Amino acid sequence: MRTPFVAGNWKMNKTVAEARDLVFKMSMQLREIAGVEKVLCPPFTSLVAVSALLEGTDIGLGAQNMYWEEKGAFTGEVSPPMVKEFCRYVILGHSERRAYFGETDQTVNRKLISAQTFDLTPIVCVGETLDEYESSRTREVVARQTSQSLRDVDPAFAPRIVVAYEPVWAIGTGKASTADNANAVVKDIIRPALAELFGAETAQAIRVLYGGSVTAANAAEYFSQPDIDGALVGGASLKIDEFAAIVKAASK
Ligand code: 13P
Repeated sequence: MRTPFVAGNWKMNKTVAEARDLVFKMSMQLREIAGVEKVLCPPFTSLVAVSALLEGTDIGLGAQNMYWEEKGAFTGEVSPPMVKEFCRYVILGHSERRAYFGETDQTVNRKLISAQTFDLTPIVCVGETLDEYESSRTREVVARQTSQSLRDVDPAFAPRIVVAYEPVWAIGTGKASTADNANAVVKDIIRPALAELFGAETAQAIRVLYGGSVTAANAAEYFSQPDIDGALVGGASLKIDEFAAIVKAASK
């Protein structure tokens, strides 16, 4: 059985003061919800403050990105050991990183191998653009992203990986994928690609999330799908009641 997993990706939102205020209030609601792995991913600048607030709770902390090198002359980058000081999780290959910051399956893969080395639980994002969706290339794109981004991983580490299927056309648009469509992509494209990499048994053990305009109103529909194990939430993860309701829906 795969434990449900819900992560909030704050993206580039909240100052440290705002993050403290949000987490202080949010953690009171979240800590009471059992049976789901819950993770907050604020910007780098707020990791120190948020980790102090989450100490002693069952709420995990994640970074939204990292570089793959351990240290050195890489101005503006943040290393895996720096992330590891505060976080157990790291989001890798988000479509916004791929679209605006030149990340590719190859760079995402280097980061994933580095997460393995530094014992971080990666949340690896895949998903087709609107153009690819409309030209019926979802299978080709998502299969390629999955097998290339996750290649050369130690099979013993593979069950730790969390994959997030985030169709780019559904992110921040309010046009969420139907739950049936999202489940079909996970079942027919992502899990078979995982099975090819790691074997059928491990492919069944890996958690796969849906992301893209998830709200308190539609979350339960995704979580009732057999192949969807949780959600990677953007906008709604900045709203206390909304995010708590999504986490609660996953715990059932
Ligand atoms: P929204 O929930 O705002 O659509 O964002 C989804 C996302 O990109 C999470 O990583």
